[in-house]
Amino acid sequence: MNEPTADQPLHQSSLPNPARNLNTGPLRDSIEFLRGFVRNPAQVGSIVPSSRHLEQRLVRSARIGEARTVVELGPGTGGTTAAFLRAMAPSAQLLAIELDGSFHRHLSTSIRDARFQLELGSALYLAQYLSARRLPAPDAIVSGIPFSTMPPDVSDGVAAAIAQALRPGGRFVAYQVRAHVADFVSPYLGEPEKSWEVLNVPPVRVFTWVKPEG
Ligand SMILES: C[S@@+](CC[C@H](N)C(=O)[O-])C[C@H]1O[C@@H](n2cnc3c(N)ncnc32)[C@H](O)[C@@H]1O
Repeated sequence: MNEPTADQPLHQSSLPNPARNLNTGPLRDSIEFLRGFVRNPAQVGSIVPSSRHLEQRLVRSARIGEARTVVELGPGTGGTTAAFLRAMAPSAQLLAIELDGSFHRHLSTSIRDARFQLELGSALYLAQYLSARRLPAPDAIVSGIPFSTMPPDVSDGVAAAIAQALRPGGRFVAYQVRAHVADFVSPYLGEPEKSWEVLNVPPVRVFTWVKPEG
């Protein structure tokens, strides 16, 4: 697992892009995604990007259209990111955190939207990234990072960071082939709502948690 250590910088950030221009092509994204999987299968966790059906399920489950601040963990080549931006209000903001340097470069040139901010680094440092950018507690956090292949201490650290960062009443949505994510997140956020998206390669489980108020 290519996790940064405590000695490494928290982020190598890019500034938000001023103009909106979602210049992504499905074929270009798929090739880039497959390259990412070959580089690091355990970290990427899938050979193709999420399907349009899964993207729309995530938009609905996380209530992206109502959110003011959205965080995406593991945007990959940006198909899910672009779907969130299409569904988001004009005044909402999206922070994406990606661990893979090539995916980060791809995203920083292909997504131009004033509402979009991007960090290169680990989801472990979610709180620090939000604080450095003076973003409020997110209304929605969506994650495709593979909890089942990460070291257990990293999975637990990411789950704790998500539970801590989310605003009370906010939603955490995770899409995964396996169910391990629930073992890590439920101790912090309680029982999730579970569903399957079968129109995806491969079919995935979708878990939705709502952070208790108060
Ligand atoms: C299954 S892919 C999802 C990509 C994209 N969101 C999609 O649905 O097509 C998982 C992504 O999580 C990233 N990732 C894995 N571990 C991470 C971590 N600890 N922090 C941030 N991103 C991570 C991988 O590099 C990869 O881009």
